Amino acid sequence: MYVPSEVKNITVSTLQKMKADGEKFAVLTAYDSSFAHQQGLAGVEVLLVGDSLGMVVQGKDSTIPVTIDEMAYHTACVAKGRQGSLVMADMPFMGCQTLEATLQNATKLMQAGAHMVKLEGEAWLAEHIESLARGGIPVCAHMGLTPQSVHKFGGYKIQGRDQQAADQMIQDALAVQEAGAAILLVECIPSVLGKTLSETLDIPVIGIGAGSDCDAQVLVMHDMIGVTPGKPAKFVRNFLADGITTVPEAFEAYVKAVKDGSFPGPEHCFV
Ligand code: KIV
Repeated sequence: MYVPSEVKNITVSTLQKMKADGEKFAVLTAYDSSFAHQQGLAGVEVLLVGDSLGMVVQGKDSTIPVTIDEMAYHTACVAKGRQGSLVMADMPFMGCQTLEATLQNATKLMQAGAHMVKLEGEAWLAEHIESLARGGIPVCAHMGLTPQSVHKFGGYKIQGRDQQAADQMIQDALAVQEAGAAILLVECIPSVLGKTLSETLDIPVIGIGAGSDCDAQVLVMHDMIGVTPGKPAKFVRNFLADGITTVPEAFEAYVKAVKDGSFPGPEHCFV
């Protein structure tokens, strides 16, 4: 049985040092206090209060209906239960309409207990990231398949597959890093692009469906314990399986698999 290291307080500097040391870190979505507590005890470094809560908690069709007040509510729940993990909260749909809106909404999330905010978007986010960083708010930029743009993409489709799109994503990633982003999260992109981004950027790169060479991995909690209705996405592995019978053990197995590089396997990746 994998024994997680003692719970320590995780900061942005911890994650940067882990990247520098070549140690992978584990991220899971969390929406409430009890699961946040158990994930922390299992050694999950970052708890993402994802707007995926619109789908897995509220049962909606997409993340688009989720409001800033709902995000702040779940962020407060997670912050209450955390055991040293860093709390990252999602900016909801159209939360960055103007610079002023970005600052106001990020303030709500930070005052609810977040340590970092995640924004979906590309290079256009640069001025928003600069303003937040100036105000002391660390930012994770989310690129690739950004679920809030599902209608623009025409579905949940793999991004960055052709050379032009891949080159554009690398340019956008460098622009948000230059603007002061502390982390990049990339979703549903070819593994080779996930590897290039992780090697090119100084900041940690978290992947979901982005290959095994990213500096960290994230999954939606409901997916990795096999309770999300419907067919799981290719990048999902159910850790509440193969002799693992409790949710805390599934969290520990996930952390171990991320750190030893056995998750994601080739069957979870895109070419
Ligand atoms: O909202 C969320 O849970 C996310 C992850 C899928 C990365 O953004």
